[in-house]
Amino acid sequence: MCGIVGYVGRKDAVDILTKGLKRLEYRGYDSAGIAVFNDAGEILFRKKKGKVNELTQVLEKEPLAGTIGISHTRWSTHGVPNDVNAHPHLDCKSEIAVVHNGIIENFQELKDSLIIEGHNFASDTDTEVIAHLVEKFYEGNLEEAVRKAVKELRGSYAICVMHKNEPDRIIGARLDSPLIIGVGKDENFLASDIPAILEYTRDIVYVKNGEIVNIDVENVTVKNLDGARIEKAPERIEWDIGQAEKGGFSHFMLKEIFEQPEVIKKIINTRISDDSIHFDELKIDEDELVKARNIAIVACGTAYHAGLTGKYMLEEYTRTPVWADTSSEFRYRDPIVNKDTLVIVISQSGETADTLAALREARKRNAKVLAICNVLGSSIARESDGVIFTHAGPEIAVASTKAYTAQLATLYLFTLYMAKLKCSLSEEKIKELLNEFKNIPSLLSETLSRYEVEGNEIAHYARDFKAYYEKSHTKSFFLYLARNINYPNALEGALKLKEISYISAEGYPAGEMKHGPIALIDENPWVICIATKSRTYEKMRSNIQEVKARGGIVVAIITTGDESIKSLKLNYIIDIPEIHEFFSPILIAIPLQLLAYYVAREFGYDIDQPRNLAKSVTVE
Ligand code: AGP
Repeated sequence: MCGIVGYVGRKDAVDILTKGLKRLEYRGYDSAGIAVFNDAGEILFRKKKGKVNELTQVLEKEPLAGTIGISHTRWSTHGVPNDVNAHPHLDCKSEIAVVHNGIIENFQELKDSLIIEGHNFASDTDTEVIAHLVEKFYEGNLEEAVRKAVKELRGSYAICVMHKNEPDRIIGARLDSPLIIGVGKDENFLASDIPAILEYTRDIVYVKNGEIVNIDVENVTVKNLDGARIEKAPERIEWDIGQAEKGGFSHFMLKEIFEQPEVIKKIINTRISDDSIHFDELKIDEDELVKARNIAIVACGTAYHAGLTGKYMLEEYTRTPVWADTSSEFRYRDPIVNKDTLVIVISQSGETADTLAALREARKRNAKVLAICNVLGSSIARESDGVIFTHAGPEIAVASTKAYTAQLATLYLFTLYMAKLKCSLSEEKIKELLNEFKNIPSLLSETLSRYEVEGNEIAHYARDFKAYYEKSHTKSFFLYLARNINYPNALEGALKLKEISYISAEGYPAGEMKHGPIALIDENPWVICIATKSRTYEKMRSNIQEVKARGGIVVAIITTGDESIKSLKLNYIIDIPEIHEFFSPILIAIPLQLLAYYVAREFGYDIDQPRNLAKSVTVE
């Protein structure tokens, strides 16, 4: 995710464009840039690695002035964060400037053919191809040139484009990345999101896929890709800035929970084409991967829970021995790791100290290290032999949600990728599983839609728990039970709850109940049982009965339509759509995240910034 802003008016564009970027930093902050027309109609630009503050420091030393311009704050997907890869990107003659949010999947083939046609590229980004395509198609009409250029693109884009020959306007376009128009008085705006421009106007037009926008000081025109004009009336936005930064959600955590279908859809779009899986940035040869005799998955916290789920995935379909370790344990226990081991380190931030140390330990022992990471240019991504980026976009809330499901999705695809390399699955089976995988975004959306309105069932359960907790004089706590591939989800559900509601919560393999935890069961614990359709369903049903028989309060997560569990007359039921057991953890994460969120909200804690925690634990 990146943030873009465009301004056409009579005020100081630099001030408006940089302030707009500050409001969009939650969308990305590894580099930033700005381009404006000067009085002579030339395009002048500044761009800098780092947050928007770095850019404003550059602008203090080398100021720009103009009333029309574009700006960008970056979350890298192609090309590490540096000054050259920062946006805006220009054409060969520096007459065209482009800022872009999205991923151009076919950028390499476009870049190759543009180079053959004589274009010179300055950066490693996918975005730069857009500037050269507009240059190629420009014949005196920028809007027309942009229309032709975007027809060549595959992937997602929201762009603002300027041309030296038309210094009175900006052209915008979008496909699968957000773009809005701000309609002002003698000024108009383009932006990725409302917070960037809410200070100047509350009249917003949402640009739809395939639309081309042409704005100047007085006019806003919107057309489709065939050039036909589309009339769009502005909507009045009544949010305050805080609400706008969270997209109208009350917390970043809830916003990020609801972003998950889009995140998984983007992973599908960037990783799967013609039913084959590709990891362009992987940089570990396939024969290196095939020869791995065992796999160690190493991470912390939520990333560890994703990795533990990955153990079940990889063992099931590649028949390779896999173990999962927390980074802090791995690095100090003299692990049996050598050149035959593939070590997979998972980290959202790419800066977790224990995981970085574990990666270094593994490399010292000649293991190949693959990072699954969300931040380009991070230490863990840079120091690994290979990397797969999860493209979840910045995750602001300390409690990890969309990064977790993005890690799971990436592990699913890596499992099928490895199964193909190792010939441990037939082509048909891989195709069948990929088709199931492609259904996940719609299943996530369907599940979320059941619990998005205020006062939904899960919010209601959280309210009941609060009342129970107060009556029980804090003797209440949570026990999460699950089996097989969902056992790591029991750990994750417990972690989500404890880290934002400060209530004791423990995840356990349900089969272990008789070996101790069942002694905990009386009327106090709330026992969350993951009992969706699976090979261990009957066993889970028995565990539920054991808990109920001892007076425990059961919250069962079940498959919609499961009358058998409902016949047990449990205290609480959360039902989710039917899904292939192998992929069920990614869907079950939703109720686990929402339950933690609503319980924490009942207790009134700082959900996005819980006490004692940091988003990235860069110290041991
Ligand atoms: C998860 O909600 C926590 N914020 C924490 O456990 C986190 O997953 C852990 O610190 C690992 O962080 P990383 O993925 O950035 O390495």
